[in-house]
Amino acid sequence: MLSVPETTTGLKPEFIAVVDKIYRQMCNLQAGTRVLIITDSRTPRHVVTVFMGMAMAMGAVVSVSENFLAPPPADQPGFEWNPMVVAASREADLIVDLAVGYASFMAEAIERGAQIISPGDGTGGHHIEESLIRTMLDVDLYQMRREAIAIERLFTSASEVRMTSEEGTDFTMNIEGLKGIASHEFLWDPDTQTKILDWSALPPAAPGIVLPKFRGDGVVAADGFFLYSDLHQFPKSPVFLTFEKGKIVDIRGDDRLLVSRLNRWLDGIEGDTGRFGPVHFNLGINPKARLNEHPEFEKLRGTITMGIGDSSLLTRMWNGAGLEPVVSDVHWDFIVMRPTIHLDGKTICERGIMPEFKD
Ligand SMILES: [Fe+2]
Repeated sequence: MLSVPETTTGLKPEFIAVVDKIYRQMCNLQAGTRVLIITDSRTPRHVVTVFMGMAMAMGAVVSVSENFLAPPPADQPGFEWNPMVVAASREADLIVDLAVGYASFMAEAIERGAQIISPGDGTGGHHIEESLIRTMLDVDLYQMRREAIAIERLFTSASEVRMTSEEGTDFTMNIEGLKGIASHEFLWDPDTQTKILDWSALPPAAPGIVLPKFRGDGVVAADGFFLYSDLHQFPKSPVFLTFEKGKIVDIRGDDRLLVSRLNRWLDGIEGDTGRFGPVHFNLGINPKARLNEHPEFEKLRGTITMGIGDSSLLTRMWNGAGLEPVVSDVHWDFIVMRPTIHLDGKTICERGIMPEFKD
C-alpha cells in the first residue's frame, strides 16, 4: 500500500484545472486580493508558477517568497523564521503555503484576518502536483464537504469517542462540550457566499476534533505511518502506545527499530512535552488519498490520524483560542489503518471501512 507518487519536471495540464478549482471554488479568489506564495526547494518551480500565474490571471496581486529549507515538520514548531517572509506575510490577504505549516507568524496572519491555503499541508513537496490531481480533480469536493460537516456534527454532539481495532486498540476520550471540526478545507462557503474558514490544508478532508490537554486513555495500536523527527516510518508490525490522561506513558512493539528511535527522540525533548496528546484526532474521508510520504496520508478514507505534542499553534490556527494547548518544540503524527470508531456508541467507521455517504 505504500506508494511513491509519480513525479515529473513537466507541467501536467490537469494541475492547472486543480489550481483553478482551488482558487475559484474553495477560496473565491477575487481581483485585487494580495496573494503571497511561500515556497522552498522541495516544491518544483512549475508548481509555484501555476499558483502564481493562475492568481495573476484572476487579477490578484501576487508575490512569491522562496526561502531556506525549514526543518522537518515534526521539529518545526520551535523554528525561527526568516524575518523577511514574516514581514511579507503581514501584507497578504491570502497566503498559499508551500513551505511553512505551523508557525507563529502564520497564526498571527490568521488572527489579523488573512486566510491561508496549504496545498500539501504546508510542506509542499516534489509530489504535490500528482497528489493534488489525484485527490481533488475527479473527487466530488462538495459531496466530501457535506460528509465532513455531518461527521463534525457527530463529534460535536458526542460526549465520548471510543476507538478499537483488531490490531489491539482500545482507546477512549471524553469529548463532552468540545466542538467537532469538519476540515472540508473550503475557505469559502458556496451556499451562503461567505468566508467560513481561516486555514485550509489540501487535499480534503479529515473531520475530527482538536483536544485540550489531558484527554485520552487506553492503548492505540498504530499500524500506519509515523511522522516524527525527520522520518516518515512505516512500522513492520503495530506499535502499541499506552495513554494515561492524555500522555503517552509506554511505547512498545515488535518493530524494535521504530520503537527505540521514537523513544530516543522523545526522551530528548525538554519537559517530556513530546509525549502529551492526542492534540488532534481526525478521520480521513478522501477516497483517492494514499499512504505515502506526502501529508495526504492524513486524508486516507477510513483511517485515524492522531497528533501528539505541540498544539499551541494548532489551536490558534485551526480552532481559535479557548482550549488549553500543549506547548512543545515538536509535533508528530501517526495513523491507525483499520479503526472502529464509536461516538457515544454510534459506529461511524468499522475496521477501516466507512459506508458510502448519503445526504
Ligand atoms: Fe498533526
